[in-house]
Amino acid sequence: MTSRKRRKDEHISIALTSVDGPSSSGFEDIYFINDSVSELNFEEIELSLDFLHKRLQYPLVINALTGGTNRGRLINENLAILANKYKIAMAVGSQTIALEDPGLRDSFTAVRDINPEGLVFANVGMTVSYERALQAVEMIAADALQVHFNIPQELAMVDGDRNFRGVINNIENIVKHCPVPIIAKEVGFGFSSESIIKLYHAGVRIFDVGGKGGTNFIVIEDKRDGLFDGELDDWGIPSAVSLAEAVSCSLPIQTIASGGIRTACDVAKALSMGSDLVGMAGPLLRSMLEHGVNDLDKKLETLIYRLKSVFIMTGAKNIREIRQKPLIIIKETADWLRVRGIEPEKWSRANRI
Ligand SMILES: Cc1cc2nc3c(=O)[nH]c(=O)nc-3n(C[C@H](O)[C@H](O)[C@H](O)COP(=O)(O)O)c2cc1C
Repeated sequence: MTSRKRRKDEHISIALTSVDGPSSSGFEDIYFINDSVSELNFEEIELSLDFLHKRLQYPLVINALTGGTNRGRLINENLAILANKYKIAMAVGSQTIALEDPGLRDSFTAVRDINPEGLVFANVGMTVSYERALQAVEMIAADALQVHFNIPQELAMVDGDRNFRGVINNIENIVKHCPVPIIAKEVGFGFSSESIIKLYHAGVRIFDVGGKGGTNFIVIEDKRDGLFDGELDDWGIPSAVSLAEAVSCSLPIQTIASGGIRTACDVAKALSMGSDLVGMAGPLLRSMLEHGVNDLDKKLETLIYRLKSVFIMTGAKNIREIRQKPLIIIKETADWLRVRGIEPEKWSRANRI
């Protein structure tokens, strides 16, 4: 087995036994206001939207997980069946493994075969050449290319990258040559507004904030003989803060909230704060591998039921309306935003956008 294949399988095995954190996503510091007289009918709650010219039934993304191994192919196939069923977006895991060994392509191409009309994202790392990035897109006829940023993870790995010079130029090059939009994606450490602005100037217009609070790749690498030995487990920007930074940049960008999104209420809060889509990875993997694809199917159904319930309880019948609903941001998340010059109160006013 190649070292990349082994690493992929180890990531899955460790993710299965890992818990979120140790820090939280920040969404627990955010509250909606109950609307006692919302006067909505469950049937009229409308969560569908257009993203990159495709219709989604719900504003959800099954985020990048895997591919390139037998286990990865099975996981991707099952996730693609559900992405197709619920008409939600799906990203494949990093495709570098199949760019190096074309014999492994089918663990990724299966996602497109199963879901020919769906919104599917390709995935590569931030240092990949633009030629390879294009091959990744072409491999699965992707609608967009996720480029993942994972500097802390690389540094935690014994054999990870150490030289990140030229990354922004590389992104600029990928943007220039790529036939589909680029999604800059953090993997659980969160983008700051400064990073977003740099990548915006390199041409990126979609950001998956991938903040801390959920799957933690420093912890995962430490369990694989990593170099940080528990000292940096707390590294990163909580997802709610990273999302607030992204939407406060006042740039014409689209955002995907992810990292530690665990409940329907988290999803609703992220949408209300201004994210266009909301992504989840670790919990979907755990549900499927521990209890089977039917369990994950049921979990998605439950998530959607509860999401619609939260919309009713806030008095919002669609995504546009939930963005107008007051959100109360308090405690550590509010403190963090304030010292970064972002007023948490801007979300607590009615008719705020
Ligand atoms: C087993 C595993 C493998 C992952 N592989 C990738 C990957 O190849 N590319 C990527 O961009 N993100 C990858 N991720 C990160 C997720 O897409 C996501 O950004 C991160 O797990 C945070 O979301 P979560 O808290 O909902 O899990 C992986 C996550 C897990 C759990």
